[in-house]
Amino acid sequence: MTAQQNHEKQAAALEAVNLVKDGQVVGLGTGSTAEFAIREIAERGLRITGVPTSERSAKLAASLGIPLADINAVETIHLTIDGADEFTEELYLLKGGGGAFLREKIVAERSRQEIIIADSGKLVKQLGAFRLPIEVVPFAQRFVWQRLEMLGAVCRLREGFTTDEGNHVIDADFGLITEPAALAAELNGITGLVAHGLFIGLASMVIMGKGNEIVRFTR
Ligand code: A5P
Repeated sequence: MTAQQNHEKQAAALEAVNLVKDGQVVGLGTGSTAEFAIREIAERGLRITGVPTSERSAKLAASLGIPLADINAVETIHLTIDGADEFTEELYLLKGGGGAFLREKIVAERSRQEIIIADSGKLVKQLGAFRLPIEVVPFAQRFVWQRLEMLGAVCRLREGFTTDEGNHVIDADFGLITEPAALAAELNGITGLVAHGLFIGLASMVIMGKGNEIVRFTR
């Protein structure tokens, strides 16, 4: 990661944390950009309850003294701040480089607002230069792999990696994804495929750091 990328990620994170208010339940994303936001929430002494999207973020937040809640115990998640591996101006996201996308998607679905923070290198015209992460139940791995190949993907198992839910990840290269919503629908129909990294219609806003500027994308 370059110093410029780091600067952009942190600037986006700080801007997003301006949206957080005391008393809120806040989804805590996963990845280096989301970590800037988690640290900033603690730094500002905001009195929130966090719902982490991974064990990794849970550990970080707890170490910083942020109170956490079980997702099933909270009524509402007011907003979530999370990163992305790629996004488009239409707010289609490709996520899951960190392998936390199943929980990230569940938290996003439950959030009133899903705020994505990113450096300028994440903005693309079309998703797909980054391999699409697919979480699969180990028992269904071969079956899902074959289905992905039938859809035109070149598959690679994320060796030695197990998700927080005990599943495996296949990183699937579909080339540039011209119709993300259609591909997402196809993937949703594969038995044993627990989640994929396409987030369609879930982001409320992307806050992007670009040099010393902040650029916002909204629906
Ligand atoms: C985690 O599973 C991903 O969805 C992350 O949000 C994504 O990989 C972004 O990571 P960085 O913030 O480290 O670029």
